[in-house]
Amino acid sequence: MKNFIDLASARRSVRKYKSDPIPGDVLDKILRTGQLAPSGNNSQPWRFIIIDDEEVKRNLCEVSGKQKWIIESPITIAIVADMKSKIKPEFRDNDISIDDQEHREVLLKTVRDATIAADHMVMAATDEGLGTCWIALFEQDDIRPVLNVPQHCYVVAIITIGYPDEAPSAKPRKPLSDIASRNSFDREPWSC
Ligand SMILES: Cc1cc2nc3c(=O)[nH]c(=O)nc-3n(C[C@H](O)[C@H](O)[C@H](O)COP(=O)(O)O)c2cc1C
Repeated sequence: MKNFIDLASARRSVRKYKSDPIPGDVLDKILRTGQLAPSGNNSQPWRFIIIDDEEVKRNLCEVSGKQKWIIESPITIAIVADMKSKIKPEFRDNDISIDDQEHREVLLKTVRDATIAADHMVMAATDEGLGTCWIALFEQDDIRPVLNVPQHCYVVAIITIGYPDEAPSAKPRKPLSDIASRNSFDREPWSC
């Protein structure tokens, strides 16, 4: 296994894949890594949908800006944030929608947690020599019916996964001094 900073440095968004299938045990390892992600109150408000069906992939491609590597990658995983996992059990039978203003905070916290699980899976896939690409260019109303996702759930992203057939160069990052500061948002920029 690589040192983690080397792994993070090696990760790229990959948009061209070989057709080689991903072995089941590798996919299982990726999903188990997502399962290990931390979450507020250990609520684990996520669902992972593993997509390998051609028609479902085509439909996802259609609602996600026609990004064709959704069809070309052997697997796409949808990460879904489930608001009902964050609310008290006695309210879980109520009709709850991601569009409810009164549940905005719950939605934000649910999406926050599910995103951590998604990133865990991306890094696990990278560690397995796989390429990934986050895709979030879709509307909830368009993507939910494709995957039969209910109204109380938010599709955080779909992530294409496969053996890379391209080696993209690194995209630039903002300097640490612009994004990190000591003790307060508006004070001394970070330097070591
Ligand atoms: C939440 C999120 C949504 C993204 N959506 C898309 C997308 O719809 N299509 C795409 O090609 N890349 C998408 N990306 C990939 C970014 O463009 C990419 O991460 C960024 O340019 C940095 O490049 P790198 O991942 O190779 O370091 C997305 C990334 C994130 C984190």
